[in-house]
Amino acid sequence: MIQEQGGRGNRPVGDEVSSPGAGPAVPTRPHSQLRSSGGTPIALRNDCPQPVRGQGGSFHEMWRELRPIGRHPDTGGYRRFAWTGADGECREWFKAQTESRGLTYEVDRNGNQWAWLGDPAQGDAVVTGSHLDSVPDGGAFDGPLGVVSSFAALDELRHRNARFTKPLAIVNFGDEEGARFGLACVGSRLTAGQLTVEQAHRLTDGDGVTLPQAMEAAGYDPGAIGPDPERLARIGAFVELHVEQGRALDLSGDRVGIAGAIWPHGRWRFDFRGEANHAGTTRLVDRRDPMLSYAETVLAARREAQLAGAVATFGKIAVEPNGVNAIPSLVRGWLDSRAADQTSLDAVVGGVEKAAREYAAAHGVDLDVVRESFTPVVEFDHALRDELARILGKDPDLTVPVLGTGAGHDAGILSGSIPTAMLFVRNPTGVSHSPAEFAAEDDCVAGVTALADVLEGLACS
Ligand code: GLV
Ligand code: MN
Ligand code: MN
Repeated sequence: MIQEQGGRGNRPVGDEVSSPGAGPAVPTRPHSQLRSSGGTPIALRNDCPQPVRGQGGSFHEMWRELRPIGRHPDTGGYRRFAWTGADGECREWFKAQTESRGLTYEVDRNGNQWAWLGDPAQGDAVVTGSHLDSVPDGGAFDGPLGVVSSFAALDELRHRNARFTKPLAIVNFGDEEGARFGLACVGSRLTAGQLTVEQAHRLTDGDGVTLPQAMEAAGYDPGAIGPDPERLARIGAFVELHVEQGRALDLSGDRVGIAGAIWPHGRWRFDFRGEANHAGTTRLVDRRDPMLSYAETVLAARREAQLAGAVATFGKIAVEPNGVNAIPSLVRGWLDSRAADQTSLDAVVGGVEKAAREYAAAHGVDLDVVRESFTPVVEFDHALRDELARILGKDPDLTVPVLGTGAGHDAGILSGSIPTAMLFVRNPTGVSHSPAEFAAEDDCVAGVTALADVLEGLACS
């Protein structure tokens, strides 16, 4: 079982740092000109009409380059699983963006990628970024919007001739979604010491490939993985921009929001074991069918979540022997549950397990429940959050609400070690973890501008 710790306070401000990767001089454009004009939002999913940034590597150019990688031609969803070919292509893209800007490229011991402006050894660095991997048939924005916006925000700061007083880094955390090995945020958990090397070595995908084997096959050294406190000690603040995975901003009419807290959440594996038998010849009364108790448990999860004002989902299932004409011997279902507070979450999961045990007993089925991962409530650093609100509050055209979320993020993991904050960009449908996930061009541009403002406020004089 994997568990993270609570948050800690902010850090003091550092000294001046040179910017070796400051790149060619570019004309400064007034801030307001970089905002999109009003009117009908333009979809970024299919066409990338006009580059918003003048410098090479504009938001639109980057988006266009990333768009085909790992995209399934039939579903339109993304399959960028950790350490696979599609993930490798995304990593190559990140490296190319880093080098084209004259930033210093680094891969840390856990396979996370870093692009540095200035010398990390100076300390008190400001870090931004997100992830490039996806859930099965995920959307284009969850993760990549944060990484692309980070590079675009750096371009924007160079347009402004910003004077950096602290090192700045853009990071791509590995395996945020946990789609392949079942555990989310592996790269940041390892770095923060919230996943031990032994636990990481035991992670295995659906084909029996272990995490070390997968890393090695992708050209990374699994022998190096482990906690990285020295790296974290050099970071003064981490700010992750992310597409909102809900409709709070759409309902409030705001383009950009600040994260307040992440709901406590976890994954539980339910193994229902019955008896395999012939689907045509076994009398109903003679069956020990685990599918029945599983089906009843799915309904119980819905009921318990509704009672507690929480959410509970069985989104993944494995059946053995998985034959259309055989009663299953095993039904393995994974429960993902999240709630605003720990008491509600405990009530939901406890209620689902109690019901599942009753249903299993009624059908002569054995049940094992294993908590595979758990993340307690995350309260983002209040001082950093207030600083973001102060910086963004300077823009009279922008109101920036503070939002809670039920989605997990690397920022939530890192909040146990360093001051972290998040910016959310409006998602007009709220849909996420689906090919239909979306953010309008104007809102993405507002997100880049807000991130640039925040980074300027935190890292520049
Ligand atoms: C990650 O996106 C999660 O919340 O599961
Ligand atoms: Mn996600
Ligand atoms: Mn994400």
